[in-house]
Amino acid sequence: MANKTLIIGACGQIGSELTEKLRALKGNSNVVASDIREGDAKLVESGPFQILNATDYDAIKACVLDNEVSEVYLMAAMLSATGEKHPAKAWDLNMNSLFHVLNLAKEKLISKVFWPSSIAVFGPTTPKVNTPQYTVMEPTTVYGITKQVGERWCAYYHENYDVDVRSIRYPGIISWKTLPGGGTTDYAIEIFHKALEERRYESFIDENTALPMMYMDDAIKATLDIMSADASQIKIRSSYNVAGISFKPKDIASLIKRRISEFEISYKPDYRQQIADTWPSSIDDTCARKDWNWSHQYDLEALTDEMITNLESTLQH
Ligand code: SER
Repeated sequence: MANKTLIIGACGQIGSELTEKLRALKGNSNVVASDIREGDAKLVESGPFQILNATDYDAIKACVLDNEVSEVYLMAAMLSATGEKHPAKAWDLNMNSLFHVLNLAKEKLISKVFWPSSIAVFGPTTPKVNTPQYTVMEPTTVYGITKQVGERWCAYYHENYDVDVRSIRYPGIISWKTLPGGGTTDYAIEIFHKALEERRYESFIDENTALPMMYMDDAIKATLDIMSADASQIKIRSSYNVAGISFKPKDIASLIKRRISEFEISYKPDYRQQIADTWPSSIDDTCARKDWNWSHQYDLEALTDEMITNLESTLQH
């Protein structure tokens, strides 16, 4: 009986840590990692790895059947900033990969799907503070549009084809192991690298722009929590708001300065500021807390400590 897990986009920022965690939980040989390119050696060597193009339906289907896969985590996507540079490519990758996986579930070749949505589904007409689960959604980025449309398709496939698809709206995810690529919230990771390497950082987001963020361990926990919840607990089949913390560049800069006193920050907002201006500053995640007992663990201080301590030791080696 098929019972393996497939991660598509396993070499990305979230995919790489999710793969590590799932392999630890389920056994290395039960978790197939795949990506369009090879990632770091540890990921490729610690269990099955396959080069896979997320827009190629036949290739995904063959991978699922050959490896006896029953659940898929679809982590491949083009994020907000890169998506603005390549709108057609972002649409192609983000939408077709989702259709392919949803269709495999519709055909009952797989039984469960995780697909992340994002705070990018919200837009300038959305209430900014404590953004509710159900609210106005008029995203202005290609990435945000694909995530919003994707949410509707997830709900549609669940309703009409009984597909068990589960989703959360990730905020900006902060981690030290794998760099993110092409997002608006990437500043909150770059700032730590630059603080340790150069003692200075020029932020492309304005000092007073608060955005919802989360430490990677919490993001992985949210992902595993929603996937292991009983199906009856998942009352929302579009995507759940999940919140961790919210902060402005100047908040994180002052916490870094407490640990690295020479650290200096300056601000030079670019096109990514316009994206950030359309997003919420904080998120109301009452539904996730109520339905499947979501809670986060890392506050801004704990996150800053984790980032500095771990990056310090990796940069030394
Ligand atoms: N981190 C993403 C981005 O900035 C948001 O989901 O694009």
